[in-house]
Amino acid sequence: MVTPRKLTLIGTGYVGLVSGTCFAEKGFMVTCVDLNTPKFKALKDQGIIPIHEPGLEELVKKNVAAGRLTFTTQYDEAIPDADVVFIAVGTPQDEDGSADLSHVEAAARQIAPHLKGYTLIVNKSTVPVGTGAHVEALIRAANPAAQLDVASNPEFLREGEAIEDFMQPDRIVAGVETDAARQMMAGLYKPFTDAGYPLFITNRASSELIKYAANAFLATKITFINELIALCEATGADVLAVSKGMGMDARIAPRFLNPGPGYGGSCFPKDTNALAKTARDHGLTLRLVEETIATNHAIKLAMAAKIEQAMGGSVKGKIIGVLGLAFKANTDDMRDASALTILPELMTKGATIQAFDPAAMGQAKQLMPGLTYADSVTAALKGADAVVIMTEWNEFRALNWQQLRPLMKGNMLIDLRNLVDPASAREFDYTGLGRIVQGD
Ligand code: UGA
Repeated sequence: MVTPRKLTLIGTGYVGLVSGTCFAEKGFMVTCVDLNTPKFKALKDQGIIPIHEPGLEELVKKNVAAGRLTFTTQYDEAIPDADVVFIAVGTPQDEDGSADLSHVEAAARQIAPHLKGYTLIVNKSTVPVGTGAHVEALIRAANPAAQLDVASNPEFLREGEAIEDFMQPDRIVAGVETDAARQMMAGLYKPFTDAGYPLFITNRASSELIKYAANAFLATKITFINELIALCEATGADVLAVSKGMGMDARIAPRFLNPGPGYGGSCFPKDTNALAKTARDHGLTLRLVEETIATNHAIKLAMAAKIEQAMGGSVKGKIIGVLGLAFKANTDDMRDASALTILPELMTKGATIQAFDPAAMGQAKQLMPGLTYADSVTAALKGADAVVIMTEWNEFRALNWQQLRPLMKGNMLIDLRNLVDPASAREFDYTGLGRIVQGD
């Protein structure tokens, strides 16, 4: 095993900043590199965190103060001394559904001329199978004398729980092609393996594919339970009971079986599309993944229809108070949020939307300028005919529905996260997802 000391991370988005900070917390000397943008300058000079991630700011400050975490825009400062260089830049979705690798390629080209001594380059960005080999070829072409390996090390961080996921992983996956890379990976993750967290080292292509396969599987699992919502409603079954009963089978497991208004976020939609595209590029069809993508979209539209139906068949001229806009709780991220499909659909049908989200209003305003944005729950509900819970923020769990009811004109409560105990909202006409409500 070789123990690296100095780590460099290219990219200070979710993956780069969380990983870099957590490695610093584990005692490594970490340098984070990014472009000279206003966001990065604010992070570098004032410690302002560009993303909403619980616990991250404190951890950044602590490790900067300890001298283990530094920020720079200069590759010539950050690369030569590094034992391990992580590429952790964005891989947005291209027009054809594939992952856009331009940032990864740019990072590889900028790293190449500064390499000194043996360096392990690690792809942490979510990249299609084969990218490790591509990055290695790019760097070798740019700097034939460089001594390096390129490994894959996908991340499994959930936004909002990223630090916990990094520090207490179910497993760490690494893909290597040489023994030197294997030894370095083992040293890098020793603080984790010593604490009992498993490190699974496989070849590079398998590691790259594990990331996509895991996300596509989880997206399919969510979609499976979401599709059962309507069947439960048609048959008198309770989807929460079905989910619980299924999840008690250790082969199925309970997590990611919570029904909701369709999955969103920066990962599942993008990664399912990219995986399906990779298969098509190889002359194959991943039918299940293609179906998951299509069904998830249909589920989002079905949610809009459900709201319409609950409101007597039409939302024309109605005011709907919406609680939550982000794709899930504890994030300000609006990427592919279900709200982006459901709310414009309702507005097209004549509804007025008054929305409140504890963190995502800034992003939402840019994406959906036609909404009325309320600065509190009570403002969102004022004069509304119905209230829709879109995101499962904890602060919506404990609302006093008895007190809120008089603010509203109507009494419809449409709960797209099954967040509310209907017994605590007896003043309302409650509609959940596939739930049996007492008195129904
Ligand atoms: C997801 C994966 O969970 C991480 O393991 C992975 O590292 C990350 O993508 C990534 O590729 O970077 P994330 O997108 O942050 O993480 O969010 P999740 O917590 O997985 O939720 C995704 C979507 O599924 C959300 O819209 C959420 O509301 C929905 N969901 C999740 C459900 O509807 N039901 C569930 O039971 C779980």
